[in-house]
Amino acid sequence: MTVNLEVADGVGTILLNRPPMNALDVATQDRLRELAVEATRRDDVRAVVLYGGEKVFAAGADIKEMRDMDHAAMIARSRDLQESFTAIARIPKPVVAAVTGYALGGGCELALCADFRVAGENAKLGQPEILLGLIPGAGGTQRLARLIGPSKAKDLIFTGRQVKADEALTLGLVDRVVPAAEVYQEAHRWASRLAAGPAIALRAAKESVDFGLEADIDTGLAIERNWFAGLFATEDRETGMRSFVEDGPGKATFR
Ligand code: CAA
Repeated sequence: MTVNLEVADGVGTILLNRPPMNALDVATQDRLRELAVEATRRDDVRAVVLYGGEKVFAAGADIKEMRDMDHAAMIARSRDLQESFTAIARIPKPVVAAVTGYALGGGCELALCADFRVAGENAKLGQPEILLGLIPGAGGTQRLARLIGPSKAKDLIFTGRQVKADEALTLGLVDRVVPAAEVYQEAHRWASRLAAGPAIALRAAKESVDFGLEADIDTGLAIERNWFAGLFATEDRETGMRSFVEDGPGKATFR
């Protein structure tokens, strides 16, 4: 398999393995969707790391596979492509991308589906589709613009230029930059901390931010309000409040 899910200590790692560049062919895209569903369903997965290995995150959709596709074929395929990435974005648990080397095109778009991005000092990110006479097709025009703002997103999408880790940090395209050899460890540490949190409240937080941002503020506030009230039905809420009253803040252990 060109991408697998490995689970240990509450963290599921979705690991791409399609050397040399982790080009995302159709089979890999479809498998990403299956693994997103699996990570969503499994109770032993409480947070997720997206990782491409030590050398490269992913250099995009497989250009050699796409080269012979015509308009009709891409009409048929493009929805599946987007749905695979959306399935990753909709995993209702914290997701951290661990980006080493290139994250270009569909690779950058995959990283955009995570809640946070840890980049190695050797990372290079970008949306080079314009250089192929294309635009991003796996959510890049939408998720990049929402993350870093329209004019910065247009700069990257119109020029296809690659940005190094330090510029990506300034743009808000990545959240942390660490030495390349520490990327996975750092992302895993981040995911592990979140995996110890109250799972339903984390889901509520993620869905409130993500779905709320797609709606007007009153709808977003309604989403927040309903989740907030709903959390009063959880054992974690009882645990958290009891722990505060008895032992002070931040000491609760959630099940
Ligand atoms: N698809 C298919 N094959 C790819 C690939 C891709 N996206 N990226 C790299 N490869 C292949 C190369 O063709 C090469 O194969 P061969 O050894 O058979 O020649 C091998 O991987 C190694 O690549 P390079 O020799 O080019 O390595 P490099 O270190 O000189 O350059 C790179 C690396 C900068 C990533 C360069 O390969 C590159 O620019 N890749 C394409 C990036 C790109 O345009 N991505 C967007 C794809 S379209 C897309 O993603 C659409 C969407 O929105 C979903």
